Amino acid sequence: MGWESYVVVHNIAKRHNVGTLARSATAFGVSELILVGRRDFNCFGSHGSSSHLRFRHFHSLHDARDFLKDKDCDICGVEITNDALPVNHHPFKKSTAFLLGNEGQGLSPKEIQICDFFVYIPQYGAGTASLNVTVAASIVLHHFAVWAGFEERSRDGSKFVVGERPVKQGRRNYCTEAKDSIIEERKARRESAANGFFDEAESSNSSANLLDTLFVDG
Ligand SMILES: C[S@@+](CC[C@H](N)C(=O)[O-])C[C@H]1O[C@@H](n2cnc3c(N)ncnc32)[C@H](O)[C@@H]1O
Repeated sequence: MGWESYVVVHNIAKRHNVGTLARSATAFGVSELILVGRRDFNCFGSHGSSSHLRFRHFHSLHDARDFLKDKDCDICGVEITNDALPVNHHPFKKSTAFLLGNEGQGLSPKEIQICDFFVYIPQYGAGTASLNVTVAASIVLHHFAVWAGFEERSRDGSKFVVGERPVKQGRRNYCTEAKDSIIEERKARRESAANGFFDEAESSNSSANLLDTLFVDG
């Protein structure tokens, strides 16, 4: 069975973390990066790897959850919760979407609600209460890739072979735009701004420049 992994980006606050997440996602064979809510960030930190990754956008966590459930996917919260299982025990059963918490607050109650189970990364040193969100994502995605038996990419010298860069991607390849979605997005954007998420956004016209900014490589 070909299991797949997904990463759900909901309220990661720092835009460069999204770029780094995209880079790890491509390295560990993630099928899609699912953006929920705001989406006008760039892929600084992705080092070009974002053009090898499929993106999908939803306005609400609920919609993202429905999409993943249609694909018979488990939703795994990556968090240090009481009932979280150690990720090195590989508690996976099937295709899995990983939801990571905000840099400051961790997973929100709403995010926790849509998760089927949780994994945590055991830590061994005394110096920090948690890892950077992109580091945590990398470790978990690597464990999933090992569990799912993803084929290791071939190497050339000291590098892994990078695939042909797909031809320049139109925005429709990644984030399907429904007619009313722009209005909905603007509404979501105002709400997110009120919550302080993605407050590093430079432009107020996110629907117009979504992927122009998304595929700026750092
Ligand atoms: C910097 S941490 C946020 C921690 C938050 N300040 C708290 O105390 O709840 C950001 C995110 O990285 C992930 N994370 C970091 N360290 C982790 C660990 N050891 N196990 C599982 N997830 C971890 C979680 O998704 C977490 O929400």
